[in-house]
Amino acid sequence: MPSHTLTLIPGDGIGPEVTNAVTRVLAASGVVITWDRHDAGLTAVERTGKTLPQALLDSITRNRVALKGPVTTPVGHGFTSVNVGLRQALGLYANLRPVANLPGVASRFANVDLVIVRENTEDLYAGVEHTVVPGVVESLKIITEAASTRIAEFAFRYVEANGRKRVTAIHKANIMKLSDGLFLESTRAVAARHPDVAYDERIVDAACMHLVMKPEQFDVLLLPNLYGDIVSDLCAGLVGGLGVVPGANLGTDVAVFEAVHGTAPDIAGQDVANPTALLLSALLMLQHIGEMDAARRIRAALDRVLTGGRVRTRDLGGTASTRAFADAVIAAL
Ligand code: NAI
Repeated sequence: MPSHTLTLIPGDGIGPEVTNAVTRVLAASGVVITWDRHDAGLTAVERTGKTLPQALLDSITRNRVALKGPVTTPVGHGFTSVNVGLRQALGLYANLRPVANLPGVASRFANVDLVIVRENTEDLYAGVEHTVVPGVVESLKIITEAASTRIAEFAFRYVEANGRKRVTAIHKANIMKLSDGLFLESTRAVAARHPDVAYDERIVDAACMHLVMKPEQFDVLLLPNLYGDIVSDLCAGLVGGLGVVPGANLGTDVAVFEAVHGTAPDIAGQDVANPTALLLSALLMLQHIGEMDAARRIRAALDRVLTGGRVRTRDLGGTASTRAFADAVIAAL
């Protein structure tokens, strides 16, 4: 069996609890992984004085693959987002978030099976803000043809490689005619190069309404950064919440796998977080490194635990701890 050296960022808040649960499940599956552990954010500042230590960036560049727990970003003050910094530093331009119903997880909708492709490097997340005069601030929304074309190509290739059918571009180009206009123009040019993939467009506000009324009509959603962030959480709510939706940040050479959720300070340290979202992210990671069989076996074990209904974390209406849930998946393996 091949062995892998991968970077692990436990993160903070519920991060260490869910990453511990997930690494235990991966080990139980028989996949041989040596974890190169690194801190980021608050935990890294305590040890290294930096939120994004160079050793961490070097580790991911060297290993090419990382599994990441969530990292706190202070609201309104303090350091800039470690997550945004990591994506920019490593060129992780594509954020992929498959959103699908899980067996045994109750939600308002059945048959949700969509994929969010979010541009990860620019838009209002470029973080270019300044005070014009006291009481007036300006935040710049940066959209480039290059980044829009790159993410659109990613979305259309994803459709082709994964047996999907359609890309829906989501925008607000009726108001932001230049910025979202350029995003759309770039996407249309890419769509023209992929005539076998169906393509349509929705304005973001109407898209949200359609998503909460008839989500099963959507296939692959392509969004600029900010709408992608917001719509991802909305879509998580369609299938059972943030505890069950995985994600991946992909660049040309490196990939960082992480759940959609954050550090959940309201439940951190209580051993009650649902590790499913990070486990599903880890399964995307296993597929990425070619461990298809282990990914299949873990997924089957997870499905058995979820459909069994006896062992559930609090967010899904149960009383099981994070640890007990991981134990149940390991037992099912
Ligand atoms: P959050 O995702 O941490 O929490 C939102 C709600 O969902 C909370 O009620 C929380 O208890 C619940 N929740 C989240 N994950 C869960 C899980 N695995 N199991 C059970 N319940 C879960 O979002 P919030 O509160 O907006 O952000 C908290 C912090 O996380 C902020 O500092 C934010 O910047 C950071 N964050 C980090 C991310 C990352 O590292 N990729 C992504 C999103 C937020």
